[in-house]
Amino acid sequence: IWNGVEMGPPDAILGIAQNFRASTDERKVNVCVGAYRDETGQPWVLPSVRAAEGKMIENNENKEYLPIDGDAAFVEKALKFAYGADAPLERIAGVQTLSGTGACRIGGKFLAEFFSGNKIYLPVPTWGNHHKIFGECGLDVQTYRYYDRSTNRLDLDGMLADIKDAPDGSIILLHACAHNPTGCDPNSSQWRALMDLIKEKGHLIFFDSAYQGFASGDAEADAQALRNVMKEGLPMLLAQSFAKNFGLYGERCGTLSVVCKDAETKDILMSQLKNIIRPMYSSPPKHGSSIVKTVLSDDALTGQYYKECTQMADRIQSMRTRLVEAIKEAGSTHDWSHVTEQIGMFAYTGMSAEMCDQLTDEYAIYLTRDGRISIAGLNDNNLKYVAEAVHAVTDG
Ligand code: LMR
Repeated sequence: IWNGVEMGPPDAILGIAQNFRASTDERKVNVCVGAYRDETGQPWVLPSVRAAEGKMIENNENKEYLPIDGDAAFVEKALKFAYGADAPLERIAGVQTLSGTGACRIGGKFLAEFFSGNKIYLPVPTWGNHHKIFGECGLDVQTYRYYDRSTNRLDLDGMLADIKDAPDGSIILLHACAHNPTGCDPNSSQWRALMDLIKEKGHLIFFDSAYQGFASGDAEADAQALRNVMKEGLPMLLAQSFAKNFGLYGERCGTLSVVCKDAETKDILMSQLKNIIRPMYSSPPKHGSSIVKTVLSDDALTGQYYKECTQMADRIQSMRTRLVEAIKEAGSTHDWSHVTEQIGMFAYTGMSAEMCDQLTDEYAIYLTRDGRISIAGLNDNNLKYVAEAVHAVTDG
């Protein structure tokens, strides 16, 4: 048996991370995965997260199963973090998920089963895993133009035209903030135009929020677009991840929520979401959600957490500016202003797949082949090396 099984393709992001780990090149640099690193290149456990873990041990928290839909107290805190303190939680159906991927997967499955439209439109480009997740859910995956590689800016006209052309009542996936991989978000008037069109077309919005806190450095400000959509009464789902903003990558902690018209609908949807979860993984893991709950239930820890989130965003922002300066110092005369204008964890450089391959093969710099650099992977020790290599492959 198994003779007919062929080797599967490596993942476009995590496959490269694996190659990085396997490399024995002393010069190697990891700017592939969107995961925060401190100024010494090490993963950073937020002190507020460590303090919460301390409290959890002090309180002798047990290891019992969570309910199918997760820890209700965590879900409440998480939804307020996203939708705001005044959110109408009595009519938002929310379940704990295995981070953002799990949230997209549960939401996609729910839509495939219960939503009238079967087409989901993803931006081009988007996080590579979106295509696979929603395809696996049985949705018909389509795309809309989002980013113009010739100008390295948002393609607003293309985006509006494609969303207009989509059949009425389609699902439109939007990144809530700090779009991955482009770092390019609509401004407030562009959001307005988008919302008006989506309303006119009767589309449903599926927000993916993986970087709340990383766009502006202020987690509250970063939630503005999705809060506006909710206040406007547009139908929406939200996939929320705590991987990046709480640094809980391996803890797999997030939520999926559906804004409903009333509490009765919420209860019905909750029952169906639980029916999807139970045969998939029974119930979610407990440690990460206990951390978020503990932090957000304690005013002092919450205040500390917000500062630490800003600290991460600020370091990335400063490395973004310094990267462009260093590329210019290396001799580049190209226009890199798009990189300075971008926000969030990534620089979407505009480099071709061949240039990226050259960076990896000749310089041991590991990045995704779409030209995305995870700025969090840069620090004083590798900045000059990366900048000079980028200049070499883009001017060669
Ligand atoms: C990324 O885009 O690098 C992250 O979201 C990590 C992942 O799972 O792909």
